[in-house]
Amino acid sequence: MQIRSSGAPGHTVVDMTIQDPDLESDIPGKPTSASRTTLSHIMTAGDTNLLGTVHGGVIMKLVDDVAGAVAGRHSGGPAVTASMDEMAFLEPVKVGDLVHVQAQVNWTGRSSMEVGVRVMAERWNESTPAVQVGSAYLVFAAVDEAGKPRRVPPVEPETEKDRRRYQEAQIRRTHRLARRRAIMDLRESRNAEGLAD
Ligand SMILES: CC(C)(COP(=O)(O)OP(=O)(O)OC[C@H]1O[C@@H](n2cnc3c(N)ncnc32)[C@H](O)[C@@H]1OP(=O)(O)O)[C@@H](O)C(=O)NCCC(=O)NCCS
Repeated sequence: MQIRSSGAPGHTVVDMTIQDPDLESDIPGKPTSASRTTLSHIMTAGDTNLLGTVHGGVIMKLVDDVAGAVAGRHSGGPAVTASMDEMAFLEPVKVGDLVHVQAQVNWTGRSSMEVGVRVMAERWNESTPAVQVGSAYLVFAAVDEAGKPRRVPPVEPETEKDRRRYQEAQIRRTHRLARRRAIMDLRESRNAEGLAD
């Protein structure tokens, strides 16, 4: 798969060929826009925490819901949340806010997909512009009937923003794998030394 940036006239057009042969796929690719989804919800008194603002868990559920819909649409079948990271709450969400949770596939591997989510909020009865109140990155694994990982179509980024998100997702993927490997290595060496938790 090749990604070409739409360089301005006089600038070099960059070819970013994915190096990992494992990611070469016979499955036809799908453009980012084919599964991009927004979930909107008005916050009510039942959504609040003890401080009276909206509970972070309420937002996280919406994030997981919409990301799951995106992962299912992209992969054409069931997909489960493997991890959620970098969930950031940028501004408090209030009762009466109309929250829009926007999600798209940023990156695909063999069976996993990174879904990026942006949370926007606006007053439900005012025409002021929505502001960003949160963001998150989730990894979903597409699974078969037995719950085993299955191949996913490669995502085809369409815009410069999509391509930037794809590149940033690769960096996060590299860091996730390195962190997991380092922790597993540490545990193995502690076990080998006979250290009990
Ligand atoms: C996610 C799950 C299917 C992975 O199964 P597994 O046997 O570990 O399979 P693999 O190791 O081959 O991982 C499959 C893919 O998920 C990725 N993955 C697995 N665990 C991950 C994690 N914690 N963070 C990020 N990615 C992860 C792998 O990198 C791999 O990606 P790739 O195929 O694109 O290279 C399995 O752990 C599971 O079913 N977890 C429970 C999911 C769940 O119930 N979620 C909440 C309710 S929806």
